[in-house]
Amino acid sequence: MGLRLGVLVSGSGSNLQAIIDASEKGFIKSKICVVISNVPNVYALERAKKHNIPAIVINHKDFPSREAFDQAIVDKLKEYNIDLVVMAGFLRVITNVLLDAFPMKILNIHPALLPSFPGLHVQKKALEYGCKFAGCTVHFADNGVDTGPIIIQGIVPILDNDTEETLSKRILSVEHKIYPQAIKLYEEGRLKISGRRVLIDPPLSPDEKTFLTNPLTEL
Ligand code: GAR
Repeated sequence: MGLRLGVLVSGSGSNLQAIIDASEKGFIKSKICVVISNVPNVYALERAKKHNIPAIVINHKDFPSREAFDQAIVDKLKEYNIDLVVMAGFLRVITNVLLDAFPMKILNIHPALLPSFPGLHVQKKALEYGCKFAGCTVHFADNGVDTGPIIIQGIVPILDNDTEETLSKRILSVEHKIYPQAIKLYEEGRLKISGRRVLIDPPLSPDEKTFLTNPLTEL
């Protein structure tokens, strides 16, 4: 079923763009009905306007507490009758005010393979740690930092000549694939939560499964 999406952003909005494109192409049935940024003048707002999506700034600096800011976000999302909240590069910790208003209806994307590397500058951390893989995670939001139940993850190799920039770019290209896919599974009602596990029902077909090693291995 097509849902009314509210997308929260803080920056460039390339994930927002991937979701706009997925919606316009019909890959997902849901429609973005409002984009809210906590930072004025970010490019994500321009992207929304180009597609005639209401683009609103609610600046966290105008509020005395995280809760008061979250209440303003909730009020705006309710005004637009939003069914599912999509945090796409939204760099704020959210409180129970937002979580309680949209229980298990808030998704987040994070540029690391959680639970490794929550928080900020995580592509650099994975590179410096010496990981052979990095990736990205779409998960339900909860009141921890990048801790909610995991819906989908995508992996990329870390190459010897990578810099933070090249690795971030490789991860971002996978983010743009897994976020629309997570929304599609959600809108199809295929996400079943069992404790911390999010199971896909009906499951993905066997030919959709891939396995990778890095460096390459002869199996
Ligand atoms: C993305 O890499 C996203 O995963 C990350 O911010 C970037 C936003 O890019 N989010 C976080 O780090 C949240 N913990 P975008 O504005 O181009 O979509």
